[in-house]
Amino acid sequence: MARTVGIMGMGNVGSTVAHIIVAQGLADTLILYDRNQDKVNADTLDFQDAASLLSTHTTVINGQISDMKDCDIIISAIGRIDLIKVGNVDRFVELRSNAPGVSDLSKELKDSGFHGILLVITNPNDVITGLYHKHTGFATNKVLGTGTYLDTSRLKRHVGEALGVDPRSVSGYILGEHGDSQFAAWSTVRVEGRPFTEIAKEKGIDLDQLEKDTRFGGGEVHAGKGYTNYAVATAATSLVQIIFSDAKSEAICSHYNEDFKGYISSPAIIGKNGVERVLELPLTDEENKNLLKSAQTIKEKSEQFS
Ligand code: 2OP
Repeated sequence: MARTVGIMGMGNVGSTVAHIIVAQGLADTLILYDRNQDKVNADTLDFQDAASLLSTHTTVINGQISDMKDCDIIISAIGRIDLIKVGNVDRFVELRSNAPGVSDLSKELKDSGFHGILLVITNPNDVITGLYHKHTGFATNKVLGTGTYLDTSRLKRHVGEALGVDPRSVSGYILGEHGDSQFAAWSTVRVEGRPFTEIAKEKGIDLDQLEKDTRFGGGEVHAGKGYTNYAVATAATSLVQIIFSDAKSEAICSHYNEDFKGYISSPAIIGKNGVERVLELPLTDEENKNLLKSAQTIKEKSEQFS
């Protein structure tokens, strides 16, 4: 079966997602859409110019939303990060400008008859993913956001650096909002099989500082170049790869939470049907409180746009 992906929004993030998909051959057909037709036309030509140099084949098409109706996965990368003051990643600043676009695109997606998986990168991620779900009426398992997959990777980087180990030797999660109310669920963090809290105590590592560095990781990158793209695009394409291979992998993303009746990140099993099962983590009381607080933050912001 041919694997078909659509990308809505070809700014810094959408372009990087497209590049990873083409360079790694993650899709057989890739349909690109942006309001800026000249840009997306140029991107399409640029990718086509690379075709003979690649070891995999991806047909890249400059299309409209209606052309994406048979896509397996559509990725939302629309957004106006240029509105944000450099270094201050308040993702809610983007909400006012992104919400109308989400409502228009949702209508087009719904009208097109699209029935695949909608993967949302657009910020503020949990609120926007919730808006897509609300406006499209698609099943909750089929609408997911990159959420704290990215922040979890940032946490692994900082823990790995503190111990001088590969970040892939670190397991555990940043839970909650892809934003300021996120938190490190330290009870879930382990390195080489040991609870990280124990190791940190032995070595005098400041957990609060690591959590802070993680939370402001996006701000640090944004301060240097005015946007972030590589890490979030890698998170999104990792989810694409998991979905296409029906890996049923444990991964964290923003998905519908039945308790909170809204979108928030926690780990789930991801496969060809999107979010196939949500995992129940044995969190501490404090972590459960933090999750509830984060859910309330997302809810308050979402209500402004309901
Ligand atoms: C990030 O955290 C800005 O949400 C984007 O990289």
